[in-house]
Amino acid sequence: MSDVRNIEPKTISVTIDGKTCQGVFGDTILEIARANDIYIPTMCYLTKVMPIASCRMCVVNVEGVEGMILSCQEKATDGAVITTNNAELYKERQNIMKLYNVNHPLECGVCDQSGECDLQNKTMEFDVAGQNFTAREPSRPVQNWGTVSYDPALCIMCEKCVRVSTEITGDEAIKVKFGGYSSTIENVKPDTDHKTLGEAAAVCPVGALVDTGFKYTTNAWELQKIPSSCPHCGGGHEVIYEVKQGKIYRVSNNAEFTTLCSASRYGFDFANEGISKDQAAFQRAVHAFETAGTICFSSQISNEEALILQKLKEERGYKLISHEARAYQKFIQAYGSITGKSLYGGDLERLSRSRAVIVLGTRINDDTPMVKYHINMASKWNRARVAYMHPIEDCHIQNIVTQFIKYEAGSEEGVAALLAETLLKTCDLPESVRQTLNDLDIGNLSAESNVGEEELEALAKSLIKKVGYSLVVGADLYTHPRAENIAKLIALIEKYAGFNVICVPPAGNALGVSLICDLDEAIEGSTVGYNAEGDFTLSALGGGDLDMPALNQQEGTLTGITKRVVPLNVAVDYEGYVL
Ligand code: SF4
Ligand code: SF4
Ligand code: FES
Repeated sequence: MSDVRNIEPKTISVTIDGKTCQGVFGDTILEIARANDIYIPTMCYLTKVMPIASCRMCVVNVEGVEGMILSCQEKATDGAVITTNNAELYKERQNIMKLYNVNHPLECGVCDQSGECDLQNKTMEFDVAGQNFTAREPSRPVQNWGTVSYDPALCIMCEKCVRVSTEITGDEAIKVKFGGYSSTIENVKPDTDHKTLGEAAAVCPVGALVDTGFKYTTNAWELQKIPSSCPHCGGGHEVIYEVKQGKIYRVSNNAEFTTLCSASRYGFDFANEGISKDQAAFQRAVHAFETAGTICFSSQISNEEALILQKLKEERGYKLISHEARAYQKFIQAYGSITGKSLYGGDLERLSRSRAVIVLGTRINDDTPMVKYHINMASKWNRARVAYMHPIEDCHIQNIVTQFIKYEAGSEEGVAALLAETLLKTCDLPESVRQTLNDLDIGNLSAESNVGEEELEALAKSLIKKVGYSLVVGADLYTHPRAENIAKLIALIEKYAGFNVICVPPAGNALGVSLICDLDEAIEGSTVGYNAEGDFTLSALGGGDLDMPALNQQEGTLTGITKRVVPLNVAVDYEGYVL
């Protein structure tokens, strides 16, 4: 079994506006131009989805080819000579901008997008000072879809939102309603308030699709942008807190390239506010640390806080208890005993390029939506087969799952063994591993787990001739009494079948904590709790004995699912004590 990424890409050379540019076979003209710092205007292009090709702003001339070419979808050919700008191309783009502006309401003064609007910017860039096109304007009232609001009068029908809804988040709630000049987008799932529609609003280049909660609250240019990382699901993805006068108004992201989950985008109201230095509580905390034998903590802490707790253990001999992180730590250590690496080998980029994906032991849509997005991308871009193995079916991913394999809760070890036996059948294995797999009582494991042998055969068959496999495993496996054995079985699949395996970290910074702290199993003596209950509790969550800063009130780092250390910055001030 091999991986698509192992194929060496073929280099090509083109000339753009007289400059020799290198690209890779399969790159579009626009991709090569951008990679070589050459500007081609676009209105509908969104890097993270397939070319939409609805605006024609990206037109170029290619020597020997008649007419104008859409650079966003045209693949470059080796030796092509391309012109991105001349009087004719400028006129074409100017006319497109004029058409966009037909009957466009003059409401920039109150529009949420004002100051960061593509239509505003390109109207200026192409010097649209007059209008020679007209059309009768139909009545197009604003629609409130819950999380987001849609104003058809401002919509330029670029379809970016439709593509994000389909290709990235997979809610498939937004479609085009065709009607010539009266075309709009529509919410085809109005009864479900999909929070993921916020991701569609994030890519809207104008003020047509906006967050309902943010609408008319402030001007974009008044907000200070503070880059940080999301502390919620364990993904550690980049977020930008947009702040005015000490208050977070919204969370944004570099939506051209990245996508957030709903917790990242809307779950920003967790700062521990209005706190000052309570000296009496501080003295009680000092006493609690002097008498405690154990520190219990949640993994909702930064790497730096984890390191301080580890140093406290080394200095004063505390036991460190963090159940979720400890379960993950043991799983990953057992995994590494087979692969020889300190972490799983897979990554999200390869997941989104996969041709087949197996998900085991996680309700992925709820546990880690970001991973689900990447599975959705694989499904939409590569028509990947997706096998979902779980005790309960999930209606939210029915549109991408091609095979649901239900198993009995608690039988995860047997399921992992069956999976390893199935996926490693045709692989070259050391004799000892082959013998172990041969010794498995498949009939018995199948009966105990309720996974039919014919289901596994169908799964194996679906992988034939496909390359680029991924396996995503999650929290149900880490907390299983035989988690370490399960980890070794899964690791065999990475090591010998070449799967892109991702062991999804549990919520918070469990990955960082598991790499930094020497965690214990049992409590000794009295406890100090850190964002967790203890005999004396330090907490950023409110209600503790001494307040601490939340993760959007401190500088530091997290370790995300991408296995990178990512930054935290202060979005909301904090006046109390810190660890
Ligand atoms: S969408 Fe852009 S051009 Fe239209 S009103 Fe809003 S800011 Fe102005
Ligand atoms: S709502 Fe925004 S993103 Fe969607 S089609 Fe209209 S302009 Fe484009
Ligand atoms: S960017 Fe090419 S058609 Fe819109």
